[in-house]
Amino acid sequence: ALGVRAQAAGTRLACFDQLGSTNAEAAARARAGEVGPIWFVTTEQTAGRGRRQRPWIAPRGNLAASLLEVIDVSPGMAATLGFAAGLALESALQAVTAHYIASYAVPLAIDYRLKWPNDVLANGNKLGGILLEAENMADGRLAVVVGIGTNIVAHPTGTPYPATSLHALGLQVSAEQVFAALSDSWTELRGLWDNGRGFAEIRRLWLQRAKGLGEPVSIRTGTTVIEGLFDCIDEAGCLIVRTPEGRRIPIAAGDVHFGST
Ligand code: BTN
Repeated sequence: ALGVRAQAAGTRLACFDQLGSTNAEAAARARAGEVGPIWFVTTEQTAGRGRRQRPWIAPRGNLAASLLEVIDVSPGMAATLGFAAGLALESALQAVTAHYIASYAVPLAIDYRLKWPNDVLANGNKLGGILLEAENMADGRLAVVVGIGTNIVAHPTGTPYPATSLHALGLQVSAEQVFAALSDSWTELRGLWDNGRGFAEIRRLWLQRAKGLGEPVSIRTGTTVIEGLFDCIDEAGCLIVRTPEGRRIPIAAGDVHFGST
């Protein structure tokens, strides 16, 4: 089971040996009246969901965590919490890595980056991802589920993008350790999103950790591909592409590839 240090005041924790999907569990609890904030966490997920209807299976030892909160927020604003989650995961991984290197004096150098919208890359390979889902409740509030998946002991192969895991990178850490760091960094960034300058501050921090800013990018949205330079992300979290003709196009969802095609 996951032993975890104290959560931020009022945030509860529900741990499972195995679960279909922590996001599905959180949504089901919200429909049954749970308002959170509460984490649903497991180290084995059998029917996990990824972005764009893709599966996200977590073999035993990987980390699947979903934070549920029912809040009075617009769906657009809620979507920006996904960026806080990406940042929280990236910063948790930095902390766990620094601690591991200091404890075992191993010469490891891992470059963590955020790839729009919210993949976490390690040395260019996908290590984790975020799936944010929201549902309207009868009282008009929004049930927001921030799902965070991290490859700890295993990663998929044969995916269209290269993936990796912490163990493959040489970091023999556990899902428990990563979750402890993640719940801490989430608390901090969630606080910044709330009390700070809303998304503005999260966006600024996110852009500092972004992969490929200013570089050629191609984005597949459905059947079209848009090419240009990765300019920035806007106040809604859309990726802004600057086309060769100088147009700036906001992209709300799509698959990003860096480099020119
Ligand atoms: C992606 O496609 O990159 C997003 C992956 C999100 C996976 C996490 S694991 C915890 C939570 N529960 C799910 O079913 N999915 C998310």
